[in-house]
Amino acid sequence: MSKLSFCYNSLKYFIIINKRNMALDSLSALRIKYKEKKDILLEENINVKEPITLFKEWMELALKTEEILEPNAACLATVNSKGCPSNRFVLLKDVSSDGFTFFTNYGSRKANDMATNPNVAMTLYWCPLRRSIRIEGKAEKISKADSMQYFHQRPRASQIGALASEQSTRIPSRHHLDVVEQKLKDDLGDDKEVPMPNWGGYLIRPQLIEFWQGQVDRLHDRIVFRRGSDVDKEIDGTLVHKGENGWIYERLAP
Ligand SMILES: Cc1cc2nc3c(=O)[nH]c(=O)nc-3n(C[C@H](O)[C@H](O)[C@H](O)COP(=O)(O)O)c2cc1C
Repeated sequence: MSKLSFCYNSLKYFIIINKRNMALDSLSALRIKYKEKKDILLEENINVKEPITLFKEWMELALKTEEILEPNAACLATVNSKGCPSNRFVLLKDVSSDGFTFFTNYGSRKANDMATNPNVAMTLYWCPLRRSIRIEGKAEKISKADSMQYFHQRPRASQIGALASEQSTRIPSRHHLDVVEQKLKDDLGDDKEVPMPNWGGYLIRPQLIEFWQGQVDRLHDRIVFRRGSDVDKEIDGTLVHKGENGWIYERLAP
């Protein structure tokens, strides 16, 4: 980034933050400008009528948009054995025709939820683009070999950090974490391979993917792709349309 663009961005964020401060006592009045009518999301402008390709196109634009610091941050919702939902952010690490992959601790709260109920939902929001994507599907563990490959590709400090933290369990203090981490560093030295903890990837096989684009006057665009055993029967060419690769699509009111 050039010095000039750094200064420009710093000034822009300063202005945004100041505007936000002004709005703190009046949240109900906080509104950002959404896309103009000329930027509407039309079905005919979706080149390939299936959501994985469209997801990749939107993600590519998000990756190029420098105001979006973590375009792959996604909020993952799971449901526990009592039917109660919870959500948290994870980082999406891969997207393919099979689905969406993220990594986590296999003993965490979310992992326990997915062990009893594989149904999950995930949402991404890219504010500068006024775009959001919702994914619903079933999560399954990826192979240990694939998890291992990704684990050892991470920076050594992150590998040790993952090993030091039994995610979602109670700990007495921050100091406890630092002590565990230091002990692992001493034991492993600079050369020993960091053993992979109870940790790995999940693949979400999607059944529904919604593309949302914020438009002026609250008339946002929502295009939903769905697939499943009997979805073809719903195709009527008016409300429900045939897409590619077994997907159907429809537009929902905002
Ligand atoms: C932007 C962001 C990205 C995160 N990415 C991950 C991730 O990829 N994997 C992960 O296990 N936790 C990630 N976390 C931490 C989780 O949000 C959460 O604190 C942790 O996974 C424990 O969640 P659980 O107790 O519900 O299982 C991330 C947090 C943030 C804010």
